[in-house]
Amino acid sequence: MRHFLQFRDFSAAEFEHLFKRTRVIKERFKNYIAYQPLSDRMLAMVFEKSSTRTRVSFEAGIFQLGGASIVLNMGETQLGRGEPIEDVARVVSRMVDIVMIRTFEQSIIERFAAHSRVPVINGLTNEYHPCQVLADIYTFVEHRGSITGKTVAWIGDSNNMCNTWLQAATLLDFKLNVSSPSGYELEPARAAGVSRSHLELFGDPLAAARGADLVTTDVWTSMGWEEEADARKDAFAAFTVDAEMMAAAREHALFMHCLPAHRGEEVSAEVLDGPQSVVWEEAENRLHAQKALMEYLLLGRVET
Ligand code: CP
Ligand code: NVA
Repeated sequence: MRHFLQFRDFSAAEFEHLFKRTRVIKERFKNYIAYQPLSDRMLAMVFEKSSTRTRVSFEAGIFQLGGASIVLNMGETQLGRGEPIEDVARVVSRMVDIVMIRTFEQSIIERFAAHSRVPVINGLTNEYHPCQVLADIYTFVEHRGSITGKTVAWIGDSNNMCNTWLQAATLLDFKLNVSSPSGYELEPARAAGVSRSHLELFGDPLAAARGADLVTTDVWTSMGWEEEADARKDAFAAFTVDAEMMAAAREHALFMHCLPAHRGEEVSAEVLDGPQSVVWEEAENRLHAQKALMEYLLLGRVET
């Protein structure tokens, strides 16, 4: 049994398989061809933080694959009244076939997985957001082919998305340029031992964007850091991805954002709604990529 708790839980070959399956599953869906290999399978989704895309994509995805889902919002379950996560894992995983969790510390999802009888998927933690980067890289591959050897510029907070992009860069062999404001840089332990061909740090966001094949960013204040929002607005003021920054990147560079976006903060409206932006396809691909992920975790390598 496998879990998907962080990006590096899978090998490059497994991601190749997932990208291939995402394409097949998406194409069938677009052609109204039913594909229901997960009939009678049940997905439980545990949410300790808000969500729109993750909830809709997983719920629609398991249904389209023939299964069904249950949503457990923290405040409405015994988890919210202090039931140990290990006990919840033991019970829920006897009743469902696969679990997706969105929570705070990565250690919470690791404890759940350690006591689960079924595969567990990380639907975002403070540290990682692997389902999003899976969909993002699939979106890049769809538009530009393999990401190997390419350059991705990460502008802004060194958050869960940035940490996941870094794991992806090492695993899939592309370069990540990271530029974050002072005080919000990548934790040194994450950068330690990563080769210069996979990670370069920049003080100046324009320099990070220079020559990039993909420019990407995220909110200045992630869920869980709301108290810092005002201080972050000041600190991140020079880190808006705007037309000047896109002009520093390669001519055909793409722009991505995991969403929700704040126009005028981390990205200008001109870029988010502009011709280089693929954010809506990126969001849609959460659906298709996660269907491939659930198929893989429950059925292994399907080639049909
Ligand atoms: N990108 C993303 O995970 O969106 P939600 O918070 O809406 O799920
Ligand atoms: N970094 C953001 C991503 C939201 C999808 C957060 O954790 O809030």
